[in-house]
Amino acid sequence: TPRTPLMAGNWKMNLDWKQGLALVEELGDQLKGFDTDKVETVVLPPFVDIRTVQVAVDAGKLPIAYGAQDISAFESGAYTGEVSGSMLKALGATYVAVGHSERRQYHGEDEQVTNAKVKAAFAAGLTPILCVGEPLEERQAGNHVPFTLAQLSGGIEGLTAEQAGQIVIAYEPVWAIGTGEVASADDAQEVCHALRESLREQHGDVVADAVRVLYGGSVKSSNVVELMGKADVDGALVGGASLKAEEFAKIAGYQG
Ligand code: G3H
Repeated sequence: TPRTPLMAGNWKMNLDWKQGLALVEELGDQLKGFDTDKVETVVLPPFVDIRTVQVAVDAGKLPIAYGAQDISAFESGAYTGEVSGSMLKALGATYVAVGHSERRQYHGEDEQVTNAKVKAAFAAGLTPILCVGEPLEERQAGNHVPFTLAQLSGGIEGLTAEQAGQIVIAYEPVWAIGTGEVASADDAQEVCHALRESLREQHGDVVADAVRVLYGGSVKSSNVVELMGKADVDGALVGGASLKAEEFAKIAGYQG
């Protein structure tokens, strides 16, 4: 594949600033001399830990990119509790997760909000990692592909082809998140492929062949190689395993 694999660690709501600093230091040790051309590594810490990552990256101690787990749909002003894309950009962030199932489930974020946040990310010069994926009932009903494709279409609505070509998609079946129950590599491939073909229909070959489609849900160093063996899986969005430096470094370095 001409696409550079991307391994993203989503810390979720874990690690206060001291714990974040400890993980950053351990990760720096683990990734020393890491070949960043082969695999792109990204961390998505809580907002309060981003500055810590920035300092380490700027000091040349951490060969990774970083971003946030969420972004405000608004630009600036009276939006209490929100963090804007331009604030993230000023911290050197390059990525932001949008539409994670936990945002959809616990914070009521629907397709419209997700789409607005995707657009806010682009407006700020950030790359959105658009998360999609079906809950267990949809999988059991055999409806996982259409369900997930509808989330994709809603999330990217109104994007230019240029923007669509830059987005990262993360397929995360809800039943595989934090459960230890990883989707089989074939199941991951089925949906990642369907997502790419939907991008092809909507935006053409150049976009479809450029976009990185990640799999997320109980990814570990022990299953990442098999998942990455699939043609349409270009990386992983890692939750729990990204909190352990050695484990995350193994995932990032899965090729060698
Ligand atoms: O964003 C990451 C995913 O929700 C996966 O989480 O690796 O803990 O299952 P997990």
